[in-house]
Amino acid sequence: MNDEILKEDNGLTEEEKGILELIPELARVERRQENGWREIKSFVLRGQKLKDFQIRALKEHFHDYAVVYDENSRMDFRAIFGNDNPVVIEIGFGMGESTLKIAKANPDINYLGIEVFLYGFSKLLANASNDGLKNLKLMRFDAVQVLRDMVLDESVSGFHVFFPDPWPKKRHHKKRLIQVPFANLLASKLKKGGYIYCVTDWEEYAQQMLDVMAQVPSLRNPYGGFAPEREWRPETGFERKGLEKDYRINEVWVEKI
Ligand SMILES: C[S@@+](CC[C@H](N)C(=O)[O-])C[C@H]1O[C@@H](n2cnc3c(N)ncnc32)[C@H](O)[C@@H]1O
Repeated sequence: MNDEILKEDNGLTEEEKGILELIPELARVERRQENGWREIKSFVLRGQKLKDFQIRALKEHFHDYAVVYDENSRMDFRAIFGNDNPVVIEIGFGMGESTLKIAKANPDINYLGIEVFLYGFSKLLANASNDGLKNLKLMRFDAVQVLRDMVLDESVSGFHVFFPDPWPKKRHHKKRLIQVPFANLLASKLKKGGYIYCVTDWEEYAQQMLDVMAQVPSLRNPYGGFAPEREWRPETGFERKGLEKDYRINEVWVEKI
């Protein structure tokens, strides 16, 4: 288990280390291969000192809201959410601003938010527990591995990928989340009629998203290009920063046929 704790976590305060001892599942954010081979990751773990409310939320509510990664277990959404409502998965929810607002506005849809950033994870956990949300669950793990290992094919109604890390330098493009193998993975997990909704303020990545989705035979783009803005998607802090720099927001919406 030790070698699965990413080294960025070693920069934690004593209190945060105490949390990881209390909730060891929280320290593990990816599955390493036994032969030491590591695939390219779409994220770098950022450490940020947790505030008291986040520590309290982790101690008191982790097990109410968290789904723990287990490579030998497949997700039973009915058991997780206690109903058969549609499930939408958000990948990389950051601070969880959109996640919380969307989940509150749609009590008849279940949301599973996946994020590796502990600060954001515990902030959303605190907000969700304050509001007593029943239709939201969270995971602190590499979303690619969660989808591949735990999510059943044709079980998901939608995917939200809002402002994925743009990895602007050319030599980093290989770290971008939205690439053909990942889009194929998302498509395989979608029910017929389900959607993938991606948003970015990085023009060239937006174009890549369109191109990638067009290469997946089971996906259809009803707009033929960028999609109109969804009124129901709330603006996030990350998005506001882009807008301040006059970046254009592009939306990509595709559906499973
Ligand atoms: C640029 S931020 C955007 C956050 C948020 N969606 C927003 O709009 O404000 C991208 C987030 O994706 C997360 N992320 C990247 N790759 C991930 C992965 N494979 N699994 C889980 N989270 C990931 C990062 O930790 C980061 O917080």
